[in-house]
Amino acid sequence: MKCSLWNGVGAVGFGASALFACAGDEDTAPPQTEVGALEPGPLLSYGCRQDETKQSTPRGLANAPKTLRAADRQVGAAVSAAGLEDPAYAQTVAEQFNQLTPENEMKWESIEPEPGVFDFSRADTIVAFARDNGMHVRGHTLVWHSQLPAWVEALTGADAVREAMTRHIQMVMAHFRDTFPGTVVVWDVVNEAMNVMQGPMGGVPIYRDSVFSRELGEGFIAEAFQIAHDTDPDVLLFYNDFGVEGVNGAKSTGTFDMVSGLVAAGVPIDGIGFQMHTAPTDQGPNSADFAANSARYSALGLQVEITEMDVSLCSTGSNVLGQELQRFRYNSIVSSCFGSPACRSVTLWGITDPSSWLNSNGCTQGTLVLDTKPAPLAFDEAYARKPAWWGIYDALAGCQYQ
Ligand code: XIL
Repeated sequence: MKCSLWNGVGAVGFGASALFACAGDEDTAPPQTEVGALEPGPLLSYGCRQDETKQSTPRGLANAPKTLRAADRQVGAAVSAAGLEDPAYAQTVAEQFNQLTPENEMKWESIEPEPGVFDFSRADTIVAFARDNGMHVRGHTLVWHSQLPAWVEALTGADAVREAMTRHIQMVMAHFRDTFPGTVVVWDVVNEAMNVMQGPMGGVPIYRDSVFSRELGEGFIAEAFQIAHDTDPDVLLFYNDFGVEGVNGAKSTGTFDMVSGLVAAGVPIDGIGFQMHTAPTDQGPNSADFAANSARYSALGLQVEITEMDVSLCSTGSNVLGQELQRFRYNSIVSSCFGSPACRSVTLWGITDPSSWLNSNGCTQGTLVLDTKPAPLAFDEAYARKPAWWGIYDALAGCQYQ
């Protein structure tokens, strides 16, 4: 919908309450706490929040209750257990989000480093934090070719791989089901199982090579979902991947065909996660393309999520223009997702720019190291809201930039 910005202003005062009234959510009283001490506030409103920017005093900006979770949508972030030890990080997470994804702590190498030896400690830290702050958790991830311990990579033969995969799924899901009832509500059962083989005729979708696909064939995906469902029939089960966010392209087509096949075969799958690691000027997908892609999964009866969104500024530079383009990109994609009834949640892949996984590669062009940073997230190093944050905030309020 388009924001009717003056809606509710007279009745509820200036600032975010008016915006959430605009989004049809008058009853939600967002928390009043500030996060960043020196926050610049929105430079431009792009047709949103006219009530705030027309004020001669900054009252509407400085005192507006500003949290993403107040929109009463599932808005999540990837977090680390180590990060939560920092009070500023923990406060930002608790105030801003209502869903968490452990960035690494639930991966196979973290949880089952040796065969049958499980270490839930760091994952438990995150799930307990979520539970204590009224949040849900996305379990990430059960079966993935990456961040596997060496002993899994070394398994040979279908029986050995099937036994290890079955035990892993059962033990991990049962642990969170029983220790934190109702907190982990969705699992990425299989992550990144598709790939594209490049060739003279263009790309051809293929199953990604992994110990699972090698030893069990492509049926490992259906098997994993069935084991997950049998272990906890009450949680949502997702397939998650990158490069499949738009309708076109070999990987996207192959993934849609694969997921359609699962649905047709009665495999217990509830949804598809689009990672959405993107850039400000990236048109793959634009918001219309993303909406069309979501719609075709929705037509299969599935839910959709943005599971790992970040918007790297390597291509534009992390200057003022880059920051505004980043804000537009967040606004348009988050608007597009929540514009679909099938969109269950949007998750950002991290909290502050310096904590982003993209920093490990920096910004490069070939062998050239560029003098800029990815700065892909919604908060800067001081936990102040960036223009990107406002793009998400406006999208959650139902206001899409033009
Ligand atoms: C990344 C983490 O962010 C990094 O800290 C880690 O070193 C590697 O994995 N797709 C996924 C995520 O599904 O699990 C990845 O997370 C990013 C790409």
